[in-house]
Amino acid sequence: MNANGRPPKASRAIYPGSFDPPTNGHLDVIARASRYFGDLIVAVVVNPQKREPMFTLEEREAMIRECVKDLPNVRVEHFRGLLADYVQDREADVIVKGLRVVSDFENEMSTALMNRSLSDVDTMFLMSDQRYSFVSSSIVKEVFFLGGDVAALVPAPVMRIMETKRATLNR
Ligand code: PNS
Repeated sequence: MNANGRPPKASRAIYPGSFDPPTNGHLDVIARASRYFGDLIVAVVVNPQKREPMFTLEEREAMIRECVKDLPNVRVEHFRGLLADYVQDREADVIVKGLRVVSDFENEMSTALMNRSLSDVDTMFLMSDQRYSFVSSSIVKEVFFLGGDVAALVPAPVMRIMETKRATLNR
């Protein structure tokens, strides 16, 4: 059901990202977006631009799958190359993104316009919940690997995999 208690349109949305790792902010966007679209694909980019991911593709997909297992219209996939091509390949209607703070807007606007010019797909933005407006994967990783407590910022299954990864790296 959507927010008005009506069945959602049979539309397909794609929520792309690096998810390195997924945070409570990501999960909040996924849960809210799943109410508005018939079918939501969480699409993990294989090689994030500019940086090597800390978590493997398999780890990132597994973490999200565990977190969305109770959302029947959400599935997790990965993609390589241009998001615009992947959107066309999956015959999706819209890209979904979260917007945390004003500084996100500049980059998101040019990305959304580029994706529309490449594949005529619109991007819809959900404002991040204010509890997570400061939460990014990179800040979570930095604080966690320096010994800080991030348990309130990531889902429990993600916390477990992060602890395993830290133990492996410290060995
Ligand atoms: O979680 P992130 O790192 O902000 O996600 C960025 C992502 C994966 C959405 C973006 O890097 C992307 O779409 N990459 C695919 C390559 C692509 O299409 N680049 C051109 C975008 S205009």
